[in-house]
Amino acid sequence: MSPDMQEAFVPPARLLMGPGPINCDPRVLRAMSHQLIGQFDPEMTRCMNDAMALYRGVLRTGNPWTFLVDSTARGGIEACLASLLAPGDRVVVPVFGRFGHLLVEIAQRCAAQVRVIEVPWGEVARPEQLAEAIDRFGPKLVACVQGDTSTTMCQPLADLGQVCADKGVLLYCDATASVGGNALETDAWQLSAVSVGLQKCLAGPSGSAPVSLNEEAVAVIRARHHVEAGLRGADEAPGSGPRIQSNYFDLAMIMDYWGERRLNHHTEAASMLFCARECARILLREGVDAAVERHRINGGAMAAGLAALNLRLYGDPDHRMNNVVGVYIPDGLDGEALRRVLLADFGIEIGTSFGPLDGLIWRVGVMGYNARRDAVLVTLASLEQCLLRAGHRLSPGAAVAAALAHYDSAA
Ligand SMILES: Cc1ncc(COP(=O)(O)O)c(C=O)c1O
Repeated sequence: MSPDMQEAFVPPARLLMGPGPINCDPRVLRAMSHQLIGQFDPEMTRCMNDAMALYRGVLRTGNPWTFLVDSTARGGIEACLASLLAPGDRVVVPVFGRFGHLLVEIAQRCAAQVRVIEVPWGEVARPEQLAEAIDRFGPKLVACVQGDTSTTMCQPLADLGQVCADKGVLLYCDATASVGGNALETDAWQLSAVSVGLQKCLAGPSGSAPVSLNEEAVAVIRARHHVEAGLRGADEAPGSGPRIQSNYFDLAMIMDYWGERRLNHHTEAASMLFCARECARILLREGVDAAVERHRINGGAMAAGLAALNLRLYGDPDHRMNNVVGVYIPDGLDGEALRRVLLADFGIEIGTSFGPLDGLIWRVGVMGYNARRDAVLVTLASLEQCLLRAGHRLSPGAAVAAALAHYDSAA
């Protein structure tokens, strides 16, 4: 063991202004540090029921089946898709960024037949495209990302929900990066299944994936209910549908654990439960609409400041997420070197990007606990110094002034 390893690990102070994770709300950190209790303790099950009720508020739904999957957000996606899609089922996926590709990849691993709607990065899918794809391909499910942090675009969902409802197709949505910072109306937009994560606008760490399922989605999943041997009652008949291929992400069995039966599936990640409950409580205390507005105003101030740094904003301005701003790296400037200086000298992290945008844009997040005026202003002032030292032409002081003007106009 090296001498360093004999010391407790204490992470350095950072201001996380990338596309997530972001700094946790201190109240969430406190909730995570509570002592554990047994997984069938009445106080534990009360906390689970609280979390279900609170996430109904966050996701704007009356769905009784609103609960947590113990996993990062990717596991929430995988749980929904693995539980809804049986081998051979057809699914349509609009792909407008990295996380659309992830939905395709997961659906393919479920042995589903996947039809992709290719959307240029920086844009979003149109309802007519979806209607046409459904008519041609006849899917059981449409799977779509709401806010794709890789491109910073926010897919409008109300129209897609209507198209799916009219055509009798289920609609799954990954709202990990958008929930809490952009409007998300599970019931009003007729979403059949939604999954999210905590590490963006909900001001928590990654490690819990709240999901919500409407009646139709529950019926599909229940038909595939096969309780594992060792837990199964003597006269318990399995569902008529094919067994869900993943054990860990079997939502039918996870629902047995979150429902009245309290049938053990895995050992609930109690610290993440406490933390997820606190994230939702904090958001609802502020009010979902107020939180979305806070993200809109602070994200707008960041965008105004970045433009005043003589940087070009990325993507369709009509469909930008409130909580992440994409900005082109100036020609000839080493984007990674600048990010390193920003981190080393100012303790501020901004995001790089993936795939076709790798090396082309930075992504600056304004979300959750960091969707605050001071965090925006300090990031702009620090970035300005880094850009000046890298030889980028800009008008000193203009960025913070533009952000302040934005705040004034929003007041
Ligand atoms: C839209 C979206 N979906 C899914 C994920 C995956 O989340 P996790 O890394 O928590 O598994 C992310 C993470 O950035 C995301 O932005």
